[in-house]
Amino acid sequence: MTRKQPPDLDGKVVVVTGASSGIGRAFVERAACPGSRFALLARRGDLLESLADAVRGRGGEALVQPVDLRDADAARTAAEEALAEFGPPDVVVANAGLSIARSVAATAARPDSITRSVATNFTGPVAHALPLLEAMRGRGTGHLIGSSTANARLTIPGWGPYVASKSAWDAWLRTAAAELAPHGIAVTILAFPLVATEMSRPTLTGRRAMSAEDAADWISEAIGSRRPRIAPWWLRAAEVANAVAPTALARAIGRSSQRLSQP
Ligand SMILES: NC(=O)c1ccc[n+]([C@@H]2O[C@H](COP(=O)([O-])OP(=O)(O)OC[C@H]3O[C@@H](n4cnc5c(N)ncnc54)[C@H](OP(=O)(O)O)[C@@H]3O)[C@@H](O)[C@H]2O)c1
Repeated sequence: MTRKQPPDLDGKVVVVTGASSGIGRAFVERAACPGSRFALLARRGDLLESLADAVRGRGGEALVQPVDLRDADAARTAAEEALAEFGPPDVVVANAGLSIARSVAATAARPDSITRSVATNFTGPVAHALPLLEAMRGRGTGHLIGSSTANARLTIPGWGPYVASKSAWDAWLRTAAAELAPHGIAVTILAFPLVATEMSRPTLTGRRAMSAEDAADWISEAIGSRRPRIAPWWLRAAEVANAVAPTALARAIGRSSQRLSQP
């Protein structure tokens, strides 16, 4: 398939979380170019180092940040280090995430499903984004792109920890978009459908999924268009159905989604 032209990032500073694998890594591999400067954040430092080598091989610069976003202090410090190294970013791709499919019954035995999901998908990313947004606000330009899920505004039985934490992230991004627009900062929500990555491997069997490279193209599209949300074509209709008949839709979705709940 023909890929979209990546954005020209010559002279741009781009912060990418969740850069070690999947969508974030596919984006950096595609978009690195001479003059680009990347701060690369995830926990697996070895994978970030190999990606940084690839960026440098293309004539760019890379800062490797092996950080666990669940530690809000570490997340904030990482953002401050990226600012010290490169100055205010042009684009922040807040893409790191954790997916836990767990029913209410199974969560009773694993309440950490909630705390881990919220820390990875909401509080950690916000702690990391805040110093970067302040720096962009001071300069009067910038772009925050947040990886979310098409399910963030739907009801998906069996997926409480993931959907609830992404809903919080989605709502915070919408709020930030409204507040920051007058300061020259765009916010884009990427409402991804199922994407074939490490994250979705346990739940992929027999289901159609986007490739990580196609999903990475959404990040490129966001940088070019600065649209508030990029979503699959069917999402608006699903959200209207959810608003009009939430119980019936949740029952219909639940027949398949609940089977994916982990013990
Ligand atoms: N795949 C899908 O079907 C799908 C659907 C909708 C939305 N999304 C969203 O798309 C984004 C990218 O996911 P992906 O599909 O590319 O999956 P992935 O390959 O598993 O990537 C997730 C990334 O997040 C990083 N990460 C996870 N926990 C972290 C933590 N505590 N601290 C720092 N980094 C952490 C991982 O790196 P380390 O393990 O090295 O820390 C990895 O780089 C996520 O926000 C996800 O929720 C994915």
